[in-house]
Parts: sequence; structure tokens; C-alpha cells
Amino acid sequence: MALAKHFIIVTIDGGAAAGKSSTARALSKRHHLLYVDTGSFYRSITLYLLKRGLHPDETDKIREALENPAVTTELRSREARMAIDGEVPGAELRNREVNEQVSHFASRQVVRDFLLDYQRGHAGFARENGFDGIVMEGRDIGSVIFPDADFRFFLDADPSARSQRRSDQGEEDSVEERDRLDTGRKSAPLICPEGAVRIDTTRMTLEEVIEKVSGIISNEGP
Ligand code: DC
Repeated sequence: MALAKHFIIVTIDGGAAAGKSSTARALSKRHHLLYVDTGSFYRSITLYLLKRGLHPDETDKIREALENPAVTTELRSREARMAIDGEVPGAELRNREVNEQVSHFASRQVVRDFLLDYQRGHAGFARENGFDGIVMEGRDIGSVIFPDADFRFFLDADPSARSQRRSDQGEEDSVEERDRLDTGRKSAPLICPEGAVRIDTTRMTLEEVIEKVSGIISNEGP
């Protein structure tokens, strides 16, 4: 009798433009994993709060504003997308205002608490939708959301290489400033989780990064 396939959880953390999304998307395709970009969740909430004229310091108003929206997940291709009141935000998630404000909102405990269970719930969502596992990227996935994941990776690259990648993508994004805020915050800061595989992608092509990570998953599979 064939053994039931093990459901795997893969986490990828790292700074802005370290190559997390491209790597996670490729892994999702190769290993039939649900792809979850948690940065897009923080961006969606930031957009929602900005549209209501809120500032990151207005904790009580943020808490109140977050009581209202119905937050659900929609499957788009292999990706989990957050819908707020039935709507999945698009390109506006990467506009300049969101790029500037997202780290400030993400540093607030009230925002992180709001997203905690929602993020963990994606393992169940992946199972329900027939995936062999989940690949989730962010800043605190291997440290806070899934510390017991089967595979935990941390991608790093020189700040200049990362800024160049963002401008090659046509985005205005101060990568170093966001990393400074994300690393320096009290709640769930950006760190390489203990025991995670750390990969410096500065001098690697995307294909090399994907091969390395995918090879580890295939060869050390549980
Ligand atoms: O991955 P990204 O650049 O789209 O993420 C946007 C911001 O969201 C990032 O600057 C910090 C925050 N974030 C976070 O605090 N925790 C996560 N797990 C993912 C993103």
C-alpha cells in the first residue's frame, strides 16, 4: 500500500527584494504547494487602513477599523489571495504610499495580532484545496507563524543588489529603510530563525537559488 504523501510546510523569510517571491512561486509550482505571500496581507491591511485615513499610531482606531472587514482567502492559480469584504486588491498594493507605510503599520501589535490566525489558517486551506503543502514567505514565518515547519529558509542579499532588483521591476521602494524598520521593531522582527538555512543570493541567479532550495526539499523530504 502506498504511503500517504506527507504534507509539508516551507517558510521563506528575508528582507525586501531578497528573492523570496520568485523562489516561493517556483517552489509552489515544482512541489505542488500553496503559495502564500504574507507581505501582500500586510499591504492589503495597510491599504484598507490608509483608505480610512488612519495613521499607524492610532492604535484604538485601527483596532476598531479591523473589527469590521470580512477577511477571506481566494485561490488564484496556486496563490492564496486575501479578499477584504469580497475584494482582492490588485496593483495598488505596491503603490508608493503603501510601500512607504506598510512597515509602520506592520510594526503595530494590533495589526500583527489581526493577521496571526489568518496566516496559520492557510495550512488548512492548502489541505482543503488538495495541495501537497504550503510555501509561505514573509519576515516572521519561520520564527513566529510556523516555527515547527518542515523546511525553513532565510534569503539575504546585499542592500545595493536588492535596491537594483526593485528598480529593475520599475518600483520605487526604499529597501534599506524598510529593512531597518522591520528589523528594529519590537514585535516579531525580521531575523534569521535559529536553525533555518541561510542563503546569500547576492551573487546567485534566481535559477541557482531555486535549484538549491528545491534540492533541499527533494532530498531531505520527510
Ligand atoms: O514582502 P513585502 O515587501 O511585500 O512586505 C511588505 C511589508 O510587510 C514589509 O516591509 C514588512 C511587512 N511584513 C511583516 O512585517 N511580516 C511578514 N510576515 C511579511 C511582511
